[in-house]
Amino acid sequence: MAVAEAGYFVPKTAAVTAAQPLLDDAQRTALTARIKALLAERDAVLVAHYYVDSSLQRIAEETGGCISDSLEMARFGKEHPATTLVVAGVRFMGETAKILSPEKRVLMPTLEAECSLDLGCPADAFRAFCEQHPDRTVVVYSNTSVAVKALADYVVTSSIAVPLITHLRDQGRKILWAPDRHLGDYIRRETGADMLLWEGSCVVHDEFRSRELESLRKAHPAAAVLVHPESPRDVILQADVVGSTSQLIAAVKERPESEFIVATDNRIFYKMQQAAPGKRLIEAPTGGHSATCRSCAHCPWMAMNDLTSLADVLEHGHNEIFVDETERLKALTATQRMLDFAAAHRRMVAGDA
Ligand code: 13P
Ligand code: SF4
Repeated sequence: MAVAEAGYFVPKTAAVTAAQPLLDDAQRTALTARIKALLAERDAVLVAHYYVDSSLQRIAEETGGCISDSLEMARFGKEHPATTLVVAGVRFMGETAKILSPEKRVLMPTLEAECSLDLGCPADAFRAFCEQHPDRTVVVYSNTSVAVKALADYVVTSSIAVPLITHLRDQGRKILWAPDRHLGDYIRRETGADMLLWEGSCVVHDEFRSRELESLRKAHPAAAVLVHPESPRDVILQADVVGSTSQLIAAVKERPESEFIVATDNRIFYKMQQAAPGKRLIEAPTGGHSATCRSCAHCPWMAMNDLTSLADVLEHGHNEIFVDETERLKALTATQRMLDFAAAHRRMVAGDA
């Protein structure tokens, strides 16, 4: 049964205000210097996602912080000795940091940076869904609330989802998956696992268009197509590489092509260009009808992270992430399983398992 039939839906019209003050070069330079000084003064480290503005990614690079995908952000935040983690991304990333490091102060430039996948999977409705299928192992994407993670047996990110569900399939387990239907559909096709899917989607990746992509590929026949698995099936089916943000950046660096069509948030181009300076990056085509992101291939919630809000949170220490301790402990079990599996998988791939 498709979950949509049960009446759940993904809100596509969340009110998002990503308006940022326009800064001149001198103001940007001064804010950057202030942020760097405050990070040191506050014993804080910046943990940023590839989708935030390049000015923030650069600060993370220059101050020993991290710019990465969701899995590595979680691992880095847990293992770094700083007493304060400043997470530049969306709310679930800050909450994951707090789940793993309750003893640390976790701050975010804004607490309003949501994710359509998280918003589209309310805990009460998800609990009811799980209760209807007690025979299934519950695997949730990291893009969910602490309350939803607390209902799960495993948390996964896109970088580890296929190996982890292959492992569960090999144990004969049937899976209940939430919330991203495209990622779930992709994993199901890759692994052949028995998966029941929640019907969530990402407002950014849902906008990539397959017919226009076909035309673009004809115009650039030598280009490799890189797709994040939150994209629709017809887009994924045209991909040369499907992977997490980190895996797509690695592909640009390692593959022989000199041109790449990229179907993910375009702020990733900062790191892709850095990883492979001579290569040409082309945005995959999007539709034009989303009220939320206006098909700009940029997450409206990630866009809320800017220099001003980062400086403010370091200055005043507001926007702290707190999570319910009972839920945290339950969510920790499922999240730690992901980190343990990912570490074992890394060792196996490196050949020393
Ligand atoms: P990654 O884990 O691949 O960075 O994805 C996070 C995300 O929210 C993509 O939209
Ligand atoms: Fe969520 Fe999509 Fe934004 Fe990623 S890009 S944080 S999945 S809304």
